[in-house]
Amino acid sequence: MTIRFTMDKITRDGNPVLRQIAQPVPFPLSEEHAQLAKDMMTYLVISQDATQNESYDLRPGVGLAAPQVGYSLQIAAVLVPSLDPHESDDEPYFKGTIFNPTIISESVKRGALDVGEGCLSVDEDVPGFVPRANHVTVRYQDEQGTVKTIKLRDYPAIVFQHEIDHLHGHLYYDHIDLKAPWQVDDDTKYIE
Ligand code: NI
Repeated sequence: MTIRFTMDKITRDGNPVLRQIAQPVPFPLSEEHAQLAKDMMTYLVISQDATQNESYDLRPGVGLAAPQVGYSLQIAAVLVPSLDPHESDDEPYFKGTIFNPTIISESVKRGALDVGEGCLSVDEDVPGFVPRANHVTVRYQDEQGTVKTIKLRDYPAIVFQHEIDHLHGHLYYDHIDLKAPWQVDDDTKYIE
């Protein structure tokens, strides 16, 4: 596997591309866009490999959105490992590159990771709960342009919302209540 995107290619907070509304991707996919999507997934695969990520000095990631590699396009690579820690060699929970994703429904119930969130584009962690919807239904296109719908809850739902946020110019800390970052809310599920 050859790697095109290393940490020096990841756009950082302050780069205007991270605050732009990303453009829809036309289908059939151009060769350039298909290659971009593949290269984004390669980043995630290598970043999650304990030996390889060190040699490339990659911060591990479960999602990477096109604006994070400098393209204002509605593409995000998602690689959520198996949710069963005893079966780490198992198939990932979700591995795919999603195009033109939209959240078509979301729960009233909120969900937040109990440790907060991080982002490859944000070097200095901003602490605090990042409240989102606990359940979402996402519609997107795959590489072939086929429209897919996926229902997600808990951790994977958080990951998809984080990535889709990137396509709308939002960063995770936009959702943190900076006055009371760890304020617990009864209607929110805190996800381990
Ligand atoms: Ni991010």
